Amino acid sequence: MFAVVVLISGSGSNLRALLEAADEARLPANIVGVAADRDCPGLMFAVDRGIPTTVCRPQDFANRELWGAALATLILLWQPNLVVSAGFMRILPATVIEPLYPRLINLHPALLPLYPGVHAVRDALADGATVTGTTIHIVDEGVDTGPVIRAREVPVQPGDSESTLHERIKVVERNLIVETVAEIARDQIDLEEIARR
Ligand code: GAR
Repeated sequence: MFAVVVLISGSGSNLRALLEAADEARLPANIVGVAADRDCPGLMFAVDRGIPTTVCRPQDFANRELWGAALATLILLWQPNLVVSAGFMRILPATVIEPLYPRLINLHPALLPLYPGVHAVRDALADGATVTGTTIHIVDEGVDTGPVIRAREVPVQPGDSESTLHERIKVVERNLIVETVAEIARDQIDLEEIARR
């Protein structure tokens, strides 16, 4: 079975969507491990199912490269076919990206290349955007710059706050991440080919 590792930092609603889709066989994959950079509520979705978790904190290492090397080692022990960064709020160093490229993908709450970085929803609102959305891309060494796999629009509504808009984006993201991981697992998306574009 296609093995997936998920990286999280927070509430883990996208992780939960992947786990439920795998439970219901909508996703032909096993979530074999979940790694976080901090203790966070989302880990419980994995713990509840007996799926292994690990917390690898940057502050426990002398520099981000050493942290990345340790994180990569932990991830590779689970022998994943794909690693999904779903709300992992750290820029990953080359020591994580190189051993996994192009099989490390990230979910971002904006239509890249618009609004990269950690405040994508806030930045879209501040910019007066009428449409934003979500993007899934291969992770490279830039900040949200890697080759795009899939994107989906979400309209901004009058009176939207950062939280109301983000919640609507997350509803769309949860479907998009499940569909995209399923397509990768079924070989309907070729990450090597997208990475060469
Ligand atoms: C998602 O909206 C994801 O796109 C975003 O964090 C949220 C995680 O939600 N990621 C980033 O902003 C990365 N720069 P979740 O923990 O409920 O899945």
